[in-house]
Amino acid sequence: MIESLAGRNIVVTGGRGALGKVVVDRLMRAGAVCHLPGRRAGIDLTDQPAVDRFYDALPGLWASVHLAGGFSMAPITEAGRTDFMQMVETNALSAFLCCRAAVRTLRRTGGGGRIVNVSARPGLDPRRGAQMAAYAASKAAVAALTLALAEELKGERILVNAIAPSTIDTAANREAMPAADRSAWLAPEAAAEAVLQLVSPANMEISGAVLPLYARA
Ligand SMILES: NC(=O)c1ccc[n+]([C@@H]2O[C@H](COP(=O)([O-])OP(=O)(O)OC[C@H]3O[C@@H](n4cnc5c(N)ncnc54)[C@H](OP(=O)(O)O)[C@@H]3O)[C@@H](O)[C@H]2O)c1
Repeated sequence: MIESLAGRNIVVTGGRGALGKVVVDRLMRAGAVCHLPGRRAGIDLTDQPAVDRFYDALPGLWASVHLAGGFSMAPITEAGRTDFMQMVETNALSAFLCCRAAVRTLRRTGGGGRIVNVSARPGLDPRRGAQMAAYAASKAAVAALTLALAEELKGERILVNAIAPSTIDTAANREAMPAADRSAWLAPEAAAEAVLQLVSPANMEISGAVLPLYARA
C-alpha cells in the first residue's frame, strides 16, 4: 500500500515530457507538491550552478525523480563525438548533477529521502540496442550511478533506485514507429506506478535496484 505523499516536496525533472506528465499527475494525486525544473523555466540540467541554485531554493525535499533525458540512434560510423557527448550529457550528466544537488538538500533538511533515476532497457541489456551505442552507454551509466550512490548513502535513509523502461507508449514513439506492434509497449501509467512505489515512505528497504519495466516485451 502507498503511504500518503501529502505535502511532500518532490522534484521531477523532465516533468513536462511524455512520461514526466503522467508521473507528475500520479504523484500529485498522491498528495505530493511537485517542482519541475526545466529549460522553460531557464534551467538546463547539464548546468551545475543552475541545478544547485534550483535545489537550494526548494522549501524542502522528500524525493527527486530524474526523468529528463533524450534518445538518438545511428550506425556507429555515422555518429560522432557530438552525438555521444549529447547522450552522455542529456541522460547521465543531468542525472548525476540532480542526484548531487538532491543529496545536498536532503542532508540539509536531515530527514532521509528518495531518489529515482531513469535508465532504459538498452542500458541493462545493450544487445537490445543495435545502432544505439551512445544511448545504451549513457543509460548504462545511469544504472551504474544509481547503484554506486545507493551504496554511498547507506545509513542515511536516502534510498536510490532507477526504473529501466522498454519502449513507452508515447505520441512521439507512435509517430516514429507507425507500423510497430504496440501491444508490448509500456504504458506510461505503469511506469508512474513504479516511481510512486519507489518514492513512497512505505518503501523502507528498496535501494540500489534498477527495475526492468518490460514484463510483456
Ligand atoms: N520514451 C521511451 O520509449 C523511453 C524508453 C526508455 C527510457 N526512456 C527515458 O524516459 C525518460 C522520459 O522519456 P520521454 O519519452 O518522456 O521523453 P520526452 O518526452 O522527450 O521528455 C524528456 C524531458 O527531458 C527534458 N530535458 C532533456 N534534457 C534536458 C536538459 N538538459 N535540461 C532540462 N530538461 C531536459 C526535456 O525538456 P525540453 O522539453 O526542454 O526538451 C523533456 O521535458 C527519458 O530519460 C528517456 O530516455 C524513454
